[in-house]
Amino acid sequence: MKITFYGQNTLAISIGETNIIVDPFITGNELAKDKVDIMTLKADYILLTHAHQDHILDAEAIAKNTNAVIVSNYEIAMHYQAKGIEVHPMNHGGNWDFDFGNVKYVNAIHSSSFPDGSYGGQPGGFVIEGEHKNIYIAGDTALTMDMKLIPLRTKLDLAILPIGDNFTMGIDDAITASDFVECDKVLGVHYDTFGYIEIDHKVAKQKFFDADKDLMLLDIGESIEL
Ligand code: NI
Ligand code: MN
Repeated sequence: MKITFYGQNTLAISIGETNIIVDPFITGNELAKDKVDIMTLKADYILLTHAHQDHILDAEAIAKNTNAVIVSNYEIAMHYQAKGIEVHPMNHGGNWDFDFGNVKYVNAIHSSSFPDGSYGGQPGGFVIEGEHKNIYIAGDTALTMDMKLIPLRTKLDLAILPIGDNFTMGIDDAITASDFVECDKVLGVHYDTFGYIEIDHKVAKQKFFDADKDLMLLDIGESIEL
């Protein structure tokens, strides 16, 4: 499994021959827009955690360019189906076996309106079990006790957690989240994009280190292999 970071919560994940894009927000991200051309991104599936602008902005363009299937909660799926895009609707607690592996849509504590204010269902995250590697993409969320449910079902190899604070968990709560999901290897996301969520990288990494955990912060376009 290869995971590439494109800023905010945008990820490209390749599992075998399958390409997955998560929460594409590139053309509106000052940190990413000059570094990534969305028309070059490959996608068989686009996973959307919730309907906020900084998670869906480029979903329609990438889906139409690639014929990718949008996987999200029921309300977001219907929103894109009405635009002629192929979708796979899910809801909280549900699993589905896709050709690349199993996906579960899990709880998040946040909100989920579309940019025009219309209802975007309840926000979530994803647990992906694929190619003998398991990852948790928390999406935008507070620290929540529901995270303790994840390791009851899945032994994680990587937790992808928001760390920017203000709109989501900050660093200290992300360390506790890493305990709750029983995974010490964390990829930090949802930081530095706007003034409200700027973080000190050194302090963040030191705090995780002091808790015997590993926090990875990737440059735009940088990848890791699991
Ligand atoms: Ni959000
Ligand atoms: Mn967000």
